[in-house]
Amino acid sequence: MTGTGTDALHVWRRHADACVLLDGFHALKHALRFGAEVPVAVTGDRAAALALAGELAPDVRDALDGLLAEVPQETYASLVPRPHPTAVAALAVRPSRAAGLRKLAHTPRSAPVVVLDNPRNLGNAGAVIRLAAGFGATGVVTTGTLDPWHPTVVRGGAGLHYATTVERLSVEELPPGPVFALDPEGEDLRGVKLPDDALLAFGSERSGLSRELRARADHLLALPMRPQVSSYNLATSVAMTLYHWSATGGATHLR
Ligand SMILES: C[S@@+](CC[C@H](N)C(=O)[O-])C[C@H]1O[C@@H](n2cnc3c(N)ncnc32)[C@H](O)[C@@H]1O
Repeated sequence: MTGTGTDALHVWRRHADACVLLDGFHALKHALRFGAEVPVAVTGDRAAALALAGELAPDVRDALDGLLAEVPQETYASLVPRPHPTAVAALAVRPSRAAGLRKLAHTPRSAPVVVLDNPRNLGNAGAVIRLAAGFGATGVVTTGTLDPWHPTVVRGGAGLHYATTVERLSVEELPPGPVFALDPEGEDLRGVKLPDDALLAFGSERSGLSRELRARADHLLALPMRPQVSSYNLATSVAMTLYHWSATGGATHLR
């Protein structure tokens, strides 16, 4: 192992407990683009990772050149739950909760907050964070026990937690704003313009919207769906709703 690799492992061990694992090249690329503080990044193949950066992400190639330390493949594999094809992993500082809560509470808002009410599936949560980042949503709030910063969620979100705000809150603690809750029994979404300051709330994969969330909701909205189909997947429901917001006048800052 090179001296740089040994040093990187010391830094890794020092930060592993407090930091967020960025698993794979794309997660690291996104985190750097959106301003994450990355104390350490390692790879089993530095030349391949930098070649990938040159091809796919020239904007962060220099940053990666300065950051990436090469370690033996088996050392890299020991640092991650499941080796990623790009053999890249990094640790990033988790943004402060106080700053996140300030951003969520700030009004006027230029884009909605997505609320996942007691989600159960880590992959769904990651996919929703990626959607929120892509649509420039103000943030994603989860209620319930799922940790939205769990490594599997960060992996599913491709490191885009750093492109939006991600916090866990109770229903009583939700930020201000009208709550538009999505439910197959609601009014047809197609006739509604979603305001930029909306909280767009989605129910759990298993049981839909909780009693508490329904009580806080100002509107119940349905996605168009054929009779006899019970429901859509959670993340695809968020995708359709954010797209509807963008297509009816929101997200004017997006390409
Ligand atoms: C997999 S569904 C939940 C299904 C659950 N068995 C139920 O009883 O509602 C997860 C969430 O996606 C949203 N969703 C799914 N299909 C929808 C539809 N057709 N209209 C509005 N929201 C929908 C809702 O927020 C729902 O709570």
